[in-house]
Amino acid sequence: MDLETALLHGYPVIDQMTGASSIPKYQASTFHQENFREHDGYTYTRFGNPTIEAAETCMAKLEHGRHGLAFSSGMAAINAALFLLSQGDHIVLCHDIYGGTFQTLTEMLVRFGISYTFVKGQEPKNWEQAIRPETKLFYLETPSNPLLNVVDIEAVVSIAKKNHIQTICDNTFMTPIYQNPLTLGVDLVVQSATKFLNGHSDVVAGFLVMNDDHLYQRLKKHQKMLGAILGVEEAWLFLRGVKTLALRMEKSVTTAVLLAEHLQRKNQVSRVYYPGLASHPGQLVHQKQASSGGAVLSFELLSTEAVYGLFDAIKLPIVAVSLGGVESILSYPWQMSHGCMSEQDRLAAGVTPALVRLSVGIESLADLTADLDQALDKVNPSH
Ligand SMILES: Cc1ncc(COP(=O)(O)O)c(C=O)c1O
Repeated sequence: MDLETALLHGYPVIDQMTGASSIPKYQASTFHQENFREHDGYTYTRFGNPTIEAAETCMAKLEHGRHGLAFSSGMAAINAALFLLSQGDHIVLCHDIYGGTFQTLTEMLVRFGISYTFVKGQEPKNWEQAIRPETKLFYLETPSNPLLNVVDIEAVVSIAKKNHIQTICDNTFMTPIYQNPLTLGVDLVVQSATKFLNGHSDVVAGFLVMNDDHLYQRLKKHQKMLGAILGVEEAWLFLRGVKTLALRMEKSVTTAVLLAEHLQRKNQVSRVYYPGLASHPGQLVHQKQASSGGAVLSFELLSTEAVYGLFDAIKLPIVAVSLGGVESILSYPWQMSHGCMSEQDRLAAGVTPALVRLSVGIESLADLTADLDQALDKVNPSH
């Protein structure tokens, strides 16, 4: 079954009890048990709920995994995954990961005796060189947020497997439509469904997807023990939003490619970061493992003042801390997604004060181009 079809028919979409065309919101915290010694599968929503399970089955299907687990946010999913680590363990991560993941490691897990090494993930040998006897996990994000750096998933997985290390891949930017890390040997996929999967900027949600039964049992326990489950209402909204994922992505990506090329030609833009461009250093690796450059691009202007000018003049995209909505979203990683990192860490990761990130929505290409042009013209009227 193609993914476009699976989005509509590949998981429980019809309510078994009534035939309703969408799984109802089973808005209950607890379930009556005729006989308390046995139950029909559901006892308490933190342990399991039919609406939430439909969302989990949906994500497992889309990511080509056997098991899905839903969480109250992408960060809750990431934290549940990082709790695979124990005191004394070591994790290797790519340099420019999502700021929240960076913060969890450097401010929280470090207090529990977990150590970490950040590497420039584009070079597989950097992962190998960072391995220590106590290394348990590799954590990669490709393309990365916000610089769209590309990690060679298969190369890194092969190093990990040789060294009995598990790999986690944050697949939020590509979505399962364009990249399937589990089929490339990754053990665990992270998704912030807040972004493209839900797609309407009205839900915060996260998922973990995996194949291994033992890993699933461990993480199912983490879900239950940490308690950051997805709400029933959010699970239902996710199930509604995800049905149009393929359509939304197709439109956004077509526009993103053309906008990236357009921005490359602008004098006010010093660099465009988009893995679909021939000028992107990771383009060949990206093409090998993903079927599109995606709908997020970043670009650098000539100065911080120019960035302020652009944000003052732009009219169509909302200016916000997120991505993956039907509306285009312009954001400023320096102060938004990566603002929780120290200035030194941001610069080391390549996140500069002149960098802007654009998540391309489903508006018309002509309107988005005209809006970016008028805003850039105000930044520097001579061009
Ligand atoms: C790549 C990536 N992963 C994870 C997250 C965290 O997801 P959430 O905001 O749903 O907790 C984000 C949020 O921006 C992200 O961009």
